[in-house]
Amino acid sequence: MKKALAIAALFTLAPISSALAGSDLMAQARETFKPIPSAPPALSGNVVTRERVELGKMLFFEPRLSASHLISCNTCHNVGMGGDDNLETSIGHGWAKGPRNAPTALNAVFNVAQFWDGRAEDLKAQAKGPVQAGVEMSNTPAMVEKTLNSIPEYVERFGKAFPGEKSPVSFDNMAKAIESFEATLITPASRFDQFLEGNAAAMTDQEKRGLALFMDKGCSGCHSGVNVGGQDYYPFGVVEKPGADVLPQGDKGRFAVTKTADDAYVFRAGPLRNIALTAPYFHSGKVWNLEQAVAIMGQSQLGEKLSDAQIKDITAFLETLTGEQPDVTYPILPASTAATPLPVAMATK
Ligand code: HEC
Ligand code: HEC
Repeated sequence: MKKALAIAALFTLAPISSALAGSDLMAQARETFKPIPSAPPALSGNVVTRERVELGKMLFFEPRLSASHLISCNTCHNVGMGGDDNLETSIGHGWAKGPRNAPTALNAVFNVAQFWDGRAEDLKAQAKGPVQAGVEMSNTPAMVEKTLNSIPEYVERFGKAFPGEKSPVSFDNMAKAIESFEATLITPASRFDQFLEGNAAAMTDQEKRGLALFMDKGCSGCHSGVNVGGQDYYPFGVVEKPGADVLPQGDKGRFAVTKTADDAYVFRAGPLRNIALTAPYFHSGKVWNLEQAVAIMGQSQLGEKLSDAQIKDITAFLETLTGEQPDVTYPILPASTAATPLPVAMATK
């Protein structure tokens, strides 16, 4: 009797990957991925306090950090839209179209480094970039400091967020405050996290098949850890380089950071948390459909033409990576004063 049951069980499992056998799949997944914690992680070189987070939130939504007084971090990293702008590549100062797709700011704190090429070591280093970038906010540190100093509520809030400092209103402290807020932009409790935490019923059979394929085919060789990616760098096109329609020739990724030939067309493995919310895909933003992105990865990174059924299963798994979105109350920003520099007019480019 026992034997017959065992054989019957084997028979039902036969066409499916062995990894699907319930707890095996869970055990294998736990070795590869980590759930998103329910509280923000500690930051190196920054002491997160309530005052810093509150100030950082205001600055994240503060369009006066841009020369035009029109563009805030939230313009391109909309926290109500998965933390990005859902555009092919971002549009900034003077309606200039930037060269790359905006990655989500959600869970960015868990990435090994920031940007598609990892050129900023952490969020506070990152935050200084867009404020100064010509195609983003097109401002200068001196103008930002002048603007913030002209608004008494900001002067007071910087003083409280950076107590005991001689000149608390600084470009560096702006970046630290923004980093403190961004660390709160995490999305725990996705169905995949519930599964990792022991709830086998949190995912459907199709999603589990997708997870098993994701690991067995080798996607998880590059997309692992808390963010299911974002932890290391690889060539885009390990096996087969995608066409220039997906991988434009001009952007050589990490090559621009390290200047080593080996790093040409090397990019950070995309963090796949909330990926269903952040189309279009890849640093070029050329692919709008997640199934198509999965198919391209199979071909370019694994040299494998995945079947339609496999693509659908993997995509179903990726959709379980959508977590609880942060509940952000829009901050009320203090009014400008007579001393506040005026916005710079934007010529359309
Ligand atoms: C005009 C649109 C735009 C604005 C405004 C903007 N960003 Fe970005 N952001 C981008 C783009 C595009 C990238 C990717 C650039 C790259 O990889 O070279 C990016 C990258 C990032 C990243 C890295 C995420 C990752 O996974 O690597 C973070 C974090 C971020 N921005 C936060 C901010 C903050 C904070 C502000 C405000 C101070 C801001 N951004 C303003 C478009 C924008
Ligand atoms: C050899 C490493 C490697 C393997 C294997 C790999 N990827 Fe990727 N993945 C990357 C890199 C690098 C990127 C960033 C590409 C770019 O520059 O746009 C990426 C990007 C992605 C993106 C787009 C992310 C975004 O935000 O736009 C998805 C989706 C994705 N991978 C899914 C998969 C799936 C599914 C598999 C398995 C079929 C897979 N990957 C296998 C390295 C890999």
